[in-house]
Amino acid sequence: MKGIILAGGSGTRLHPITKVTSKQLLPVYNQPMIYFPLQTLLTAGIRDILIIVAPDHSGDFVNLLGSGRQFGARFAYEVQDKPEGLAQAFLIGEDFIGKDDAAMILGDNIFTHDFSASVKSFRYGAKIFVKQVPDAKRFGVVEFDDKGKVISIEEKPEIPKTNYAQTGFYLYDKYVTDYVKTLKPSKRGELEIVDLNKIYLEKGQLTAELIQGDWIDAGTFESLYKASTIVRENDLGIDLETPPTVKVEIKEVKKPLAM
Ligand code: DAU
Repeated sequence: MKGIILAGGSGTRLHPITKVTSKQLLPVYNQPMIYFPLQTLLTAGIRDILIIVAPDHSGDFVNLLGSGRQFGARFAYEVQDKPEGLAQAFLIGEDFIGKDDAAMILGDNIFTHDFSASVKSFRYGAKIFVKQVPDAKRFGVVEFDDKGKVISIEEKPEIPKTNYAQTGFYLYDKYVTDYVKTLKPSKRGELEIVDLNKIYLEKGQLTAELIQGDWIDAGTFESLYKASTIVRENDLGIDLETPPTVKVEIKEVKKPLAM
Protein backbone atom coordinates (compact mmCIF):
# COMPACT_ATOMS: atom_id res chain seq x y z
CA MET A 1 0.00 0.00 0.00
CA LYS A 2 1.36 3.42 -1.02
CA GLY A 3 0.55 6.53 1.02
CA ILE A 4 -0.28 10.06 -0.08
CA ILE A 5 -0.39 13.13 2.13
CA LEU A 6 -2.29 15.88 0.33
CA ALA A 7 -0.81 19.08 1.70
CA GLY A 8 -1.57 21.65 -0.99
CA GLY A 9 -4.37 24.19 -1.13
CA SER A 10 -4.30 27.88 -0.36
CA GLY A 11 -5.31 27.91 3.31
CA THR A 12 -7.39 31.05 2.84
CA ARG A 13 -9.54 30.28 5.89
CA LEU A 14 -6.42 30.79 8.00
CA HIS A 15 -5.36 34.17 6.55
CA PRO A 16 -3.33 36.14 7.46
CA ILE A 17 -1.13 33.47 9.08
CA THR A 18 -1.05 31.33 5.94
CA LYS A 19 0.04 34.29 3.79
CA VAL A 20 3.67 33.55 4.59
CA THR A 21 3.61 29.82 5.18
CA SER A 22 1.62 26.74 4.36
CA LYS A 23 -1.25 25.61 6.61
CA GLN A 24 0.25 22.13 7.00
CA LEU A 25 3.48 23.63 8.38
CA LEU A 26 1.73 25.59 11.15
CA PRO A 27 2.40 24.42 14.70
CA VAL A 28 -0.22 22.27 16.36
CA TYR A 29 0.85 22.38 20.00
CA ASN A 30 4.47 21.17 19.71
CA GLN A 31 4.84 19.89 16.14
CA PRO A 32 4.17 21.01 12.56
CA MET A 33 0.67 20.00 11.44
CA ILE A 34 1.90 17.57 8.76
CA TYR A 35 3.65 15.42 11.39
CA PHE A 36 0.25 14.15 12.57
CA PRO A 37 -1.06 12.72 9.28
CA LEU A 38 2.46 11.43 8.72
CA GLN A 39 2.38 9.60 12.06
CA THR A 40 -1.06 8.20 11.16
CA LEU A 41 0.36 6.65 7.97
CA LEU A 42 3.48 5.34 9.73
CA THR A 43 1.39 3.77 12.48
CA ALA A 44 -0.73 2.12 9.78
CA GLY A 45 2.47 0.51 8.48
CA ILE A 46 2.75 2.67 5.34
CA ARG A 47 6.34 3.65 4.54
CA ASP A 48 6.28 4.74 0.86
CA ILE A 49 4.73 8.18 1.00
CA LEU A 50 4.08 10.86 -1.62
CA ILE A 51 3.73 14.37 -0.24
CA ILE A 52 1.77 16.68 -2.53
CA VAL A 53 2.34 20.37 -1.88
CA ALA A 54 1.39 23.74 -3.36
CA PRO A 55 4.10 25.63 -5.29
CA ASP A 56 4.50 28.31 -2.59
CA HIS A 57 6.69 27.15 0.31
CA SER A 58 7.24 23.72 -1.32
CA GLY A 59 10.94 23.86 -0.40
CA ASP A 60 9.99 24.21 3.27
CA PHE A 61 8.35 20.76 3.22
CA VAL A 62 11.52 19.19 1.87
CA ASN A 63 13.60 21.06 4.47
CA LEU A 64 11.35 19.81 7.23
CA LEU A 65 10.77 16.21 6.13
CA GLY A 66 13.75 15.32 3.93
CA SER A 67 14.08 11.87 2.43
CA GLY A 68 11.95 10.23 5.10
CA ARG A 69 14.86 8.16 6.40
CA GLN A 70 14.72 9.73 9.85
CA PHE A 71 11.10 8.53 10.07
CA GLY A 72 11.90 5.02 8.85
CA ALA A 73 10.10 5.83 5.58
CA ARG A 74 10.71 6.92 2.00
CA PHE A 75 9.25 10.21 0.76
CA ALA A 76 8.54 11.47 -2.73
CA TYR A 77 7.29 14.98 -3.49
CA GLU A 78 5.02 16.44 -6.16
CA VAL A 79 3.72 19.96 -6.69
CA GLN A 80 0.01 20.59 -7.31
CA ASP A 81 0.06 23.76 -9.42
CA LYS A 82 -3.50 24.74 -8.51
CA PRO A 83 -5.89 23.32 -5.90
CA GLU A 84 -8.13 21.53 -8.40
CA GLY A 85 -9.59 18.99 -6.04
CA LEU A 86 -8.72 16.19 -3.66
CA ALA A 87 -9.19 13.50 -6.32
CA GLN A 88 -6.53 15.19 -8.49
CA ALA A 89 -3.97 13.72 -6.07
CA PHE A 90 -4.35 10.37 -7.88
CA LEU A 91 -3.53 11.93 -11.26
CA ILE A 92 -0.51 13.73 -9.81
CA GLY A 93 0.49 10.52 -8.05
CA GLU A 94 -0.18 8.15 -10.96
CA ASP A 95 3.45 7.09 -11.49
CA PHE A 96 4.11 6.89 -7.77
CA ILE A 97 1.09 4.63 -7.16
CA GLY A 98 1.84 2.36 -10.12
CA LYS A 99 -0.12 -0.88 -9.67
CA ASP A 100 -0.45 -0.58 -5.88
CA ASP A 101 -3.37 0.28 -3.62
CA ALA A 102 -3.26 3.76 -2.14
CA ALA A 103 -4.12 5.37 1.19
CA MET A 104 -4.66 9.11 1.12
CA ILE A 105 -4.77 11.38 4.15
CA LEU A 106 -5.40 15.11 4.13
CA GLY A 107 -2.52 17.14 5.52
CA ASP A 108 -4.76 19.03 7.93
CA ASN A 109 -6.53 15.98 9.40
CA ILE A 110 -5.52 14.82 12.87
CA PHE A 111 -6.67 11.44 14.16
CA THR A 112 -6.22 9.45 17.35
CA HIS A 113 -7.62 6.39 15.51
CA ASP A 114 -5.28 3.56 14.48
CA PHE A 115 -5.92 2.54 10.84
CA SER A 116 -3.44 -0.35 10.74
CA ALA A 117 -6.02 -3.17 10.86
CA SER A 118 -8.06 -1.59 8.04
CA VAL A 119 -4.97 -1.09 5.91
CA LYS A 120 -3.86 -4.66 6.51
CA SER A 121 -7.22 -6.19 5.65
CA PHE A 122 -7.94 -3.96 2.61
CA ARG A 123 -8.36 -6.00 -0.59
CA TYR A 124 -10.32 -4.10 -3.27
CA GLY A 125 -12.72 -1.22 -3.90
CA ALA A 126 -12.65 1.86 -1.72
CA LYS A 127 -13.01 2.39 1.99
CA ILE A 128 -13.95 5.62 3.73
CA PHE A 129 -13.81 6.35 7.44
CA VAL A 130 -16.66 8.14 9.13
CA LYS A 131 -17.34 9.92 12.39
CA GLN A 132 -20.49 11.41 13.88
CA VAL A 133 -20.20 15.19 14.02
CA PRO A 134 -22.44 18.02 15.17
CA ASP A 135 -21.80 20.12 12.02
CA ALA A 136 -22.18 17.57 9.19
CA LYS A 137 -22.86 20.15 6.49
CA ARG A 138 -19.16 21.18 6.59
CA PHE A 139 -18.23 17.71 5.27
CA GLY A 140 -18.98 14.86 2.90
CA VAL A 141 -22.07 13.27 4.49
CA VAL A 142 -22.64 9.51 4.38
CA GLU A 143 -25.98 7.71 4.62
CA PHE A 144 -26.30 4.01 5.52
CA ASP A 145 -28.98 1.35 5.36
CA ASP A 146 -29.88 -0.61 8.47
CA LYS A 147 -27.09 -3.12 7.78
CA GLY A 148 -24.42 -0.40 7.77
CA LYS A 149 -24.07 -0.41 3.96
CA VAL A 150 -23.39 2.99 2.35
CA ILE A 151 -26.36 4.15 0.29
CA SER A 152 -25.48 7.76 -0.44
CA ILE A 153 -22.73 10.30 -0.05
CA GLU A 154 -23.07 14.05 -0.56
CA GLU A 155 -20.51 16.84 -0.38
CA LYS A 156 -21.46 19.62 2.06
CA PRO A 157 -25.25 19.26 1.69
CA GLU A 158 -27.49 22.11 2.88
CA ILE A 159 -29.63 19.58 4.72
CA PRO A 160 -27.48 16.59 5.77
CA LYS A 161 -29.29 13.23 5.73
CA THR A 162 -27.17 11.98 8.67
CA ASN A 163 -24.53 13.29 11.02
CA TYR A 164 -21.87 10.88 9.71
CA ALA A 165 -19.00 12.84 8.13
CA GLN A 166 -16.51 11.30 5.75
CA THR A 167 -13.10 12.02 7.29
CA GLY A 168 -9.90 12.81 5.41
CA PHE A 169 -8.49 9.25 5.29
CA TYR A 170 -9.32 7.04 2.31
CA LEU A 171 -8.26 3.66 0.94
CA TYR A 172 -8.45 2.88 -2.78
CA ASP A 173 -7.54 -0.07 -4.95
CA LYS A 174 -5.21 0.10 -7.95
CA TYR A 175 -7.98 1.30 -10.31
CA VAL A 176 -8.30 4.64 -8.56
CA THR A 177 -6.36 6.65 -11.14
CA ASP A 178 -8.38 5.16 -14.02
CA TYR A 179 -11.61 6.20 -12.29
CA VAL A 180 -10.36 9.73 -11.53
CA LYS A 181 -9.62 10.12 -15.25
CA THR A 182 -13.35 9.72 -15.94
CA LEU A 183 -14.37 12.48 -13.49
CA LYS A 184 -15.50 15.93 -14.61
CA PRO A 185 -14.70 19.01 -12.50
CA SER A 186 -17.57 20.10 -10.25
CA LYS A 187 -19.25 23.54 -10.33
CA ARG A 188 -16.43 24.86 -8.15
CA GLY A 189 -13.90 23.54 -10.70
CA GLU A 190 -12.58 20.66 -8.59
CA LEU A 191 -12.24 16.91 -9.05
CA GLU A 192 -14.27 15.95 -6.01
CA ILE A 193 -13.37 13.05 -3.75
CA VAL A 194 -17.09 12.50 -3.23
CA ASP A 195 -17.57 11.92 -6.98
CA LEU A 196 -14.73 9.40 -6.94
CA ASN A 197 -16.35 7.62 -4.00
CA LYS A 198 -19.67 7.58 -5.85
CA ILE A 199 -18.05 5.60 -8.67
CA TYR A 200 -17.07 2.91 -6.17
CA LEU A 201 -20.52 3.14 -4.56
CA GLU A 202 -22.22 2.51 -7.92
CA LYS A 203 -20.02 -0.54 -8.40
CA GLY A 204 -21.04 -1.80 -4.96
CA GLN A 205 -17.42 -1.46 -3.83
CA LEU A 206 -17.56 1.36 -1.32
CA THR A 207 -17.40 0.44 2.35
CA ALA A 208 -17.27 2.63 5.42
CA GLU A 209 -15.83 2.17 8.88
CA LEU A 210 -16.59 4.12 11.98
CA ILE A 211 -13.45 5.51 13.59
CA GLN A 212 -12.73 5.67 17.30
CA GLY A 213 -11.44 8.60 19.29
CA ASP A 214 -10.87 12.15 18.14
CA TRP A 215 -10.73 13.52 14.63
CA ILE A 216 -10.08 17.12 13.69
CA ASP A 217 -9.93 18.87 10.34
CA ALA A 218 -7.64 21.69 11.49
CA GLY A 219 -8.53 24.05 8.66
CA THR A 220 -10.16 26.83 10.69
CA PHE A 221 -8.91 28.90 13.64
CA GLU A 222 -11.37 27.23 15.97
CA SER A 223 -10.48 23.67 14.90
CA LEU A 224 -6.76 24.51 14.88
CA TYR A 225 -7.09 25.60 18.48
CA LYS A 226 -8.99 22.40 19.38
CA ALA A 227 -6.37 20.32 17.55
CA SER A 228 -3.63 21.67 19.83
CA THR A 229 -5.60 20.55 22.86
CA ILE A 230 -6.19 17.05 21.44
CA VAL A 231 -2.51 16.69 20.53
CA ARG A 232 -1.41 17.82 23.97
CA GLU A 233 -3.86 15.57 25.82
CA ASN A 234 -3.16 12.46 23.74
CA ASP A 235 0.58 13.02 23.29
CA LEU A 236 0.17 12.65 19.50
CA GLY A 237 2.71 13.09 16.75
CA ILE A 238 6.18 11.94 15.85
CA ASP A 239 8.43 10.77 18.65
CA LEU A 240 11.89 11.57 17.31
CA GLU A 241 13.57 10.21 20.42
CA THR A 242 12.28 6.68 19.71
CA PRO A 243 13.50 4.68 16.70
CA PRO A 244 10.71 4.66 14.04
CA THR A 245 10.56 0.85 13.98
CA VAL A 246 9.21 0.94 17.53
CA LYS A 247 6.68 3.64 16.70
CA VAL A 248 5.18 1.82 13.66
CA GLU A 249 4.25 -1.38 15.46
CA ILE A 250 0.75 -2.63 14.53
CA LYS A 251 -1.65 -2.09 17.41
CA GLU A 252 -4.99 -3.58 18.47
CA VAL A 253 -7.66 -4.43 15.88
CA LYS A 254 -10.64 -2.05 15.85
CA LYS A 255 -14.22 -3.25 15.48
CA PRO A 256 -15.88 -2.84 12.07
CA LEU A 257 -18.77 -0.44 11.61
CA ALA A 258 -21.83 -1.55 13.52
CA MET A 259 -24.87 0.57 12.78
O1 DAU B 1 -11.78 16.81 6.25
C1 DAU B 1 -12.69 15.94 5.65
C2 DAU B 1 -13.41 16.62 4.48
O2 DAU B 1 -12.36 16.97 3.54
C3 DAU B 1 -14.42 15.68 3.83
O3 DAU B 1 -15.51 15.47 4.70
C4 DAU B 1 -14.95 16.29 2.53
O4 DAU B 1 -15.78 15.37 1.88
C5 DAU B 1 -13.77 16.66 1.61
O5 DAU B 1 -14.21 17.30 0.43
C6 DAU B 1 -12.82 17.60 2.34
O6 DAU B 1 -13.51 18.80 2.65
P1 DAU B 1 -12.73 20.16 3.00
O7 DAU B 1 -13.69 21.29 2.98
O8 DAU B 1 -11.92 19.97 4.22
O9 DAU B 1 -11.76 20.27 1.77
P2 DAU B 1 -10.69 21.37 1.50
O10 DAU B 1 -10.97 22.00 0.18
O11 DAU B 1 -10.56 22.28 2.70
O12 DAU B 1 -9.35 20.53 1.38
C7 DAU B 1 -8.88 19.66 2.36
C8 DAU B 1 -7.37 19.72 2.46
O13 DAU B 1 -6.76 19.34 1.22
C9 DAU B 1 -6.82 21.10 2.76
O14 DAU B 1 -5.80 20.93 3.72
C10 DAU B 1 -6.22 21.62 1.50
C11 DAU B 1 -5.91 20.37 0.73
N1 DAU B 1 -6.17 20.51 -0.70
C12 DAU B 1 -7.42 20.83 -1.11
C13 DAU B 1 -7.72 20.91 -2.45
C14 DAU B 1 -9.11 21.23 -2.93
C15 DAU B 1 -5.16 20.27 -1.60
O15 DAU B 1 -4.02 19.99 -1.20
N2 DAU B 1 -5.44 20.38 -2.94
C16 DAU B 1 -6.67 20.67 -3.40
O16 DAU B 1 -6.86 20.73 -4.65
